Amino acid sequence: MSANVLVLPGDGIGAEIMPHVVRVLEHVDTVIDFEYAEVGGIAIDRYGDPLPPDALEAAKKADAVLLGAVGGPKWDDLPMDQRPEKALLGLRSGLDVFANLRPAILFEPLAQASSLKPELVAGLDILIVRELTGGIYFGEPRGVEVGNGGRRGFNTLVYDEREIERIARVAFDLARKRRQQVTSVDKANILEVTQLWRDVVCEVASDYPDVELSHMYVDNAGMQLVREPKQFDVVVTGNMFGDILSDVAAMLTGSLGMLPSASLNAGDQGMYEPVHGTAPDIAGRNIANPLATVMSAAMMLRYSLDASAAADRVEAAVASVLDDGLRTADIFPEGGGEHLRCVGTDEMADAVIAALAGDAGGHPDQ
Ligand code: IPM
Ligand code: MG
Repeated sequence: MSANVLVLPGDGIGAEIMPHVVRVLEHVDTVIDFEYAEVGGIAIDRYGDPLPPDALEAAKKADAVLLGAVGGPKWDDLPMDQRPEKALLGLRSGLDVFANLRPAILFEPLAQASSLKPELVAGLDILIVRELTGGIYFGEPRGVEVGNGGRRGFNTLVYDEREIERIARVAFDLARKRRQQVTSVDKANILEVTQLWRDVVCEVASDYPDVELSHMYVDNAGMQLVREPKQFDVVVTGNMFGDILSDVAAMLTGSLGMLPSASLNAGDQGMYEPVHGTAPDIAGRNIANPLATVMSAAMMLRYSLDASAAADRVEAAVASVLDDGLRTADIFPEGGGEHLRCVGTDEMADAVIAALAGDAGGHPDQ
């Protein structure tokens, strides 16, 4: 049986990279039926709606959704509920993909690209587990209103215990397969909702005596991530804190262009997308780094398509092209480097495909 994947290329470099990633996926053993739909800015232009109902329906029916990126300056002045980003939030809540996994892994050859000293990031392997369908992103009431004191804007940070419990379980389950350490990030010294967060995470922890749990306030967590990032294994946190901390973690690895993500619901369904955005400034020039989307596709193989061997192969192919010295502009060091070659989007994808083809013959020692 073949897997059904809905591809949502989106805008900017998202749309530019996606055909290359589909090419990569055509070179793994898993048989995939690709379907396509338009979301984001392109869907606004074509249908006047960033997330047309048909696209959401197709997403719900698919085994997995692979998304490029959405947004761009062209649509920035639209009212909030008509912007391209609305497609993302609609897909997240429509698919109930509450668990957003954002691994920050440093590929050894890229240690120099990090903004931190190489010894601080060598071997870095952090997993941020971000709650994705609740918290202040979705809380009601929200809005801007005009009162006697002038305009007043408000959003609501709300979590119920069921939402906290299910994301905590995802984090603990994943920690079990890693280094058995969970850091829960909150602001329990000031926000009641995150005191509840802390209490519920502690309750869940009693089912996981083999996993070590610690708590950290979000301001401290931001500091610790740039001070001593290797102290972390799994970090679990709410929607907005996770948004911020995952960008910080991304930079530790040298480039936003290297970070994949998976958003999972309670079943096997997931939405997979790079952490980076549409990068309108470099779109259409064949210089964007396709590797974050390639690795998002690898996560899709692992978590939704039950093809972890294929996922391993794709990730190994990425590691091997980096070892070979291939770099897109975002990870090419200033002044170049011995054995390094700056390549375009297409050539990077070609190299990943060549590496996949090369390993297919099977080296007996690998
Ligand atoms: C992310 C992005 C989105 C978010 C935006 C584009 C809505 O920053 O996925 O991290 O804030 O969740
Ligand atoms: Mg973000």
